[in-house]
Amino acid sequence: MTAKIISGKELSQAIKADINKKVNLLAKKFRAPCLAVILVGEDLASQVYVRNKVKACEGCGITSILEKLPEETPEEILLEKIEQFNNDDSIDGILVQLPLPKHISESKVIEQISVKKDVDGFSLENVGALCTGMPGFKACTPYGVMKMLESTAINLTGKHALIIGRSNIVGKPMALMLLEKNATVTIAHSKTVNLAELGRDADILVAAVGKANFVKKDMVKPGAIVIDVGINRGTDGKLCGDVDFEEVKEVAGYITPVPGGVGPMTITMLLQNTLEAAELKSIKEQGN
Ligand code: GUN
Repeated sequence: MTAKIISGKELSQAIKADINKKVNLLAKKFRAPCLAVILVGEDLASQVYVRNKVKACEGCGITSILEKLPEETPEEILLEKIEQFNNDDSIDGILVQLPLPKHISESKVIEQISVKKDVDGFSLENVGALCTGMPGFKACTPYGVMKMLESTAINLTGKHALIIGRSNIVGKPMALMLLEKNATVTIAHSKTVNLAELGRDADILVAAVGKANFVKKDMVKPGAIVIDVGINRGTDGKLCGDVDFEEVKEVAGYITPVPGGVGPMTITMLLQNTLEAAELKSIKEQGN
């Protein structure tokens, strides 16, 4: 058996076409949405991610502002910059690329961003909203994964979902989103015992471990949906995920590739959140 591929590249193009239409409508009656992206330091991967985010904004008609700050930027300067963007009415979304240099507190920075502009969905208030089923911005990677699952048209009610990884950015919000769709959720992590056994019982397996080709076919239930959040460099220097794609695709029912899987969906959901932030602002300022 060979798994069906869930292409994040194709799905994201369809969602971006819809976002682009809505952006054009909003631009006519209000203005184009605007995302401010802050990058501190020279981390190579972060530079690539930020470049891709800015490019994706352009592709959808969303205005972007890129603020690059040097590695040694003091925390207060970054907090002041965020405050300036919070008070700027022409900016709808603010994203500070993580990780930050060690001398800067990520939690302080996240909490400095106005909840209404927190298009990453990382603030305590947005996480709390997700946890309690209230409206708010959802973290982009798990939000994108939910769209990929939705594209299979498989009802998640009563399904066993195993998430490998407990990060604030992916694992934990992923669990809450799956729970909201009535899945029975297990979060596994580095201290989990019998991971392969848990994997073989999972109808949905989300790998967010950060280890190249970590998930092998003996950890996967035949016919399962396998979602690969990882972006790693394999020993051959090529990009690869957390799932050993070649062997797992022979067991799984659905699988996401790397590249072209979850990555493009993360960026697309950031655009979606930025559009929503601008739409809410338009409603507040002019009633529609
Ligand atoms: N670093 C890795 N993923 C993300 C993300 O989704 N948002 C931000 N701001 N930083 C990240």
